[in-house]
Amino acid sequence: MKVLLISSSARGHSIADALARSPQKPEIVSICPSTNPGIKKLSIEQHVMDIMDFEGILKIASDTKPDFAIIGPEDPIGGGLADELEKIGIRSIAPKKSLSRIESSKGFTRNLLNKYGIDASPKFKVFGSTEASSLSTFIAQDLGGEFVVKYDALKGGKGVKVSGEHLNSVEEGVAYAKECIEECGSVVVEEKLVGPEFSLISFTSGLQVVDTPAIQDHKRAYEGDTGPNTGGMGTYSDADHSLTFLEASDIARASEINKLVADALMKECPEHPEGYVGFLYGGFILTKTGVKVIEYNCRLGDPEALNIMPLLESDFVSICLSMLDGSLSKDMVKFANKATVCKYITPESYPVSKDQKGERIILPPVPDNVVVFHGDLSEDQEGLLLGGSRTAGVVGLGATIEQAEHLAQAFCEQVTGPVRFRPDIGSDALIQQRVLQAKSIRTEDQHNTATVA
Ligand code: AMP
Ligand code: GLY
Repeated sequence: MKVLLISSSARGHSIADALARSPQKPEIVSICPSTNPGIKKLSIEQHVMDIMDFEGILKIASDTKPDFAIIGPEDPIGGGLADELEKIGIRSIAPKKSLSRIESSKGFTRNLLNKYGIDASPKFKVFGSTEASSLSTFIAQDLGGEFVVKYDALKGGKGVKVSGEHLNSVEEGVAYAKECIEECGSVVVEEKLVGPEFSLISFTSGLQVVDTPAIQDHKRAYEGDTGPNTGGMGTYSDADHSLTFLEASDIARASEINKLVADALMKECPEHPEGYVGFLYGGFILTKTGVKVIEYNCRLGDPEALNIMPLLESDFVSICLSMLDGSLSKDMVKFANKATVCKYITPESYPVSKDQKGERIILPPVPDNVVVFHGDLSEDQEGLLLGGSRTAGVVGLGATIEQAEHLAQAFCEQVTGPVRFRPDIGSDALIQQRVLQAKSIRTEDQHNTATVA
């Protein structure tokens, strides 16, 4: 058994680790944009190259003849790498290009939800250059000045601007929306939603949709959810695979939405009768009118993968093979009933600058119930060196979030080098804040319902 893994980062390391734990002991051939010491250790060969160089990737695939490929990041998926690999007979755990529009076009996703009657979007409109003159009226009147402007293409997680955070007036919103239209032809403008966010990622094969544990990510750079947005500073999940601020009906609704979306994608892209194959990532928000979709991604989240993959007790290779032949079922996928807390170690200046790039970092020995996934770091004869981005994801596993948090925190405190992490992720204080926020949203809803009644 041989698997071609196209991925860098700690997410890629967590995928490689799940493959390496398979009783089928697959040989891993990895293709990464920079050396990843963690993935390298688990691979029979690691090729360092541009992961958008499809010609180069197809050459390696033809030479190594893997049984299947796994594509980690959105750029090669959105560029159609799964379609290209299939042309040379290699199937991928990643959706085809037209199905991956679920992430690469926010307009496609909002329109898909509408077309198939999936009632989970805020008020929104997709604008092209011919409609740009009505941007101001839509933002000011229809949305009451509380709005979000979304670049309608992949932009490394940096295409969304929210009023009150990045945009301080209707005029600034209109200007950014016009910039988006100029760059990529269209823009999505939508109502600003308020509430706690969560991710629910499902292993998906056509209409078979099997959920992984729900996760909460923390995108802001600094403690207390302050500072600029990052790729994600850390995440947590609970032993029951839900989250404390969610009721059973919320998680059931998010799960239902993922299923409805898989079904809608199957109907929308009949040229791929197998449907969506890969990780379907629903980004949700709990609002006063129920669970809504913030976004969809066509891949595992990073850091979310770092929580999910260590919990997987089933054979990941068998799961992948079932996803590829359309026989995926819920009983094949078992996750341990443990809580996880992931804290990312990053260079001190991340995400503002890359000043510490090349400086040395020393990781302590990894204790039981802690897993460390390598991100943007490299290795020389003396040890590990920082890259400019997120360095390593430290995951604690425990019976409770509190236990998992202590384990991750204790490890992070012992790391030596010019690095930082968010001590508050997974802390009781921060989780209680989410619970209170959810409670106040539900109370507001009851109050509104009572008023209407
Ligand atoms: P996205 O790239 O779509 O995940 O957006 C990045 C972040 O922007 C999300 O995690 C949210 O915090 C925020 N965001 C996106 N859409 C909305 C919305 N309609 N209302 C409020 N915040 C949003
Ligand atoms: N954790 C957010 C993402 O992977 O996009």
